[in-house]
Amino acid sequence: MKSDELFALLRRRGVLWPSAEIYGGVQGLYDYGPLGTALKRRIEEAWSAWFLGLSEDYHLIEPAEILPEAVVRASGHLENFTDPEVTCDSCHASFRADTLLEKIRPEGVDGLSAPQIGTILAESSISCPSCGKRTLSVPRPFNLMFGLDFGVTAGERAYLRPETAQGSYLAFARMWDVGRRALPLGIAVIGKAYRNEIAPRQVLFRMRAFTQAELQIFFDPAGFPVPFDSVRTEELPVLRVPRRERGEESPERVTAGRLVEDGLPEFYVFHLVQSYRFFRDVLKYPADRIRLFEKSDAERAFYNRIQFDIEVHLESLGGFKELAAVHYRGDYDLTRHGLGSKKDLTVTTKEGHRVLPHVLELTFGVDRNLWALADIHLGHDEERTLWRLPPYLAPVVAGVFPLLRKEHTAYARSLSAELVREGFPVEFDDAGTIGKRYARMDEAGTPFCITIDGGTVAANGAEHDTVTLRLRDTKSQERLARGDLPARIRGALHPPRPPP
Ligand code: GAP
Repeated sequence: MKSDELFALLRRRGVLWPSAEIYGGVQGLYDYGPLGTALKRRIEEAWSAWFLGLSEDYHLIEPAEILPEAVVRASGHLENFTDPEVTCDSCHASFRADTLLEKIRPEGVDGLSAPQIGTILAESSISCPSCGKRTLSVPRPFNLMFGLDFGVTAGERAYLRPETAQGSYLAFARMWDVGRRALPLGIAVIGKAYRNEIAPRQVLFRMRAFTQAELQIFFDPAGFPVPFDSVRTEELPVLRVPRRERGEESPERVTAGRLVEDGLPEFYVFHLVQSYRFFRDVLKYPADRIRLFEKSDAERAFYNRIQFDIEVHLESLGGFKELAAVHYRGDYDLTRHGLGSKKDLTVTTKEGHRVLPHVLELTFGVDRNLWALADIHLGHDEERTLWRLPPYLAPVVAGVFPLLRKEHTAYARSLSAELVREGFPVEFDDAGTIGKRYARMDEAGTPFCITIDGGTVAANGAEHDTVTLRLRDTKSQERLARGDLPARIRGALHPPRPPP
């Protein structure tokens, strides 16, 4: 589906819509409706089950979203978290330089200085997309953070966090004290990050407020033991820098063992495999649409030593798009926050070494993946619009329908209330024909529909306590005892966990 068509469908079903829609919407901000909110929660639960399932020493915390200026100065975001911005001297519209240069320079402008970008712009014949005049300025670095006046006394500056990761670095010392005092220690955060994007676009892909799920793993630089043999023969679809430099865009399948022979650390490749498996085995993205895209020295984020972006080919956006990444950040963050806070962030390991832990970051964009789940799993077959979400991601797990309003509603209501009490997200629906009700559930990704019909409550009122269960993907129907429903539904609801 094209992006516009997909967005229209999601908006019509109340999954999401532009924020402040009645005022014409706000660029880069979206609201989620009931289905979207529930789907986001399921994605976050599936992410937690998988990544926090990697170790008992990985924990979820909820730090503040506002960072004092001292924090973002130390982290480097005040100085480096910029995009090159170009303004039009005639109409004063603003643009990202890489967006303007997209057609003539598809590889982007990461790593180029503002003057270098200015030269490319000047040599190109690009005019202002807004007014058409050739009056674009030279690029200047534009800081993407939202600044705030903080507190009642003037002069206190603070910022909305540009990445959730910072909360984990700030919490490291406390988490060390309250925990087992052992490395590796994982500190995860799921929550909003805020970026004043110059050119928000592609719906959930460049938002100004979006949700990240990020796990920071603090480890001893002398060694991060992982069960590498369990992944050694796994083939990964990688696109490494030398291959990219030869103009290739398609990944090649390389075993995890081979990547280590080629110089990547075992702990890094082990987690790259886990991230890849999450996309393939949990979110069920087809393996041939996933690409692990290595960033070069010039392209990497300023804090990274190794960076592979996890990209998925999305029809709606016409190509591979970054949905997550694995970042080896070294000692960058704890060094910077140690200096900024003047606190000693070194720790003594069980082996008795005093070390400043290094950080491996597994970062994941929840909104982008919600879009990808729609792009990949939502589509039309001959007669239906169907969202083939894995059942553990479905916002509504079962629709409960009375076939006939008069005879079957009381039973259906009581069953639906019972399932809600059991903790299942079910929806009662008695509006329109049974076909229309199935169609609404198919579009919402609901894996089960339960119909109360004459087999459940006979015309004479006699109850038989069996219901019709219809499966979304095959449309097959079976007769099931009411008492067997909870176990049947529960069995489909648990997101996969990594193998032990
Ligand atoms: N802590 C590392 C970090 O923030 P990033 O590549 O800037 O790295 C991580 O962001 C993930 O957050 C991306 O892979 C993407 O999924 C998501 N993300 C980043 N910027 C976004 C935006 N403007 N809108 C929606 N999602 C975004």
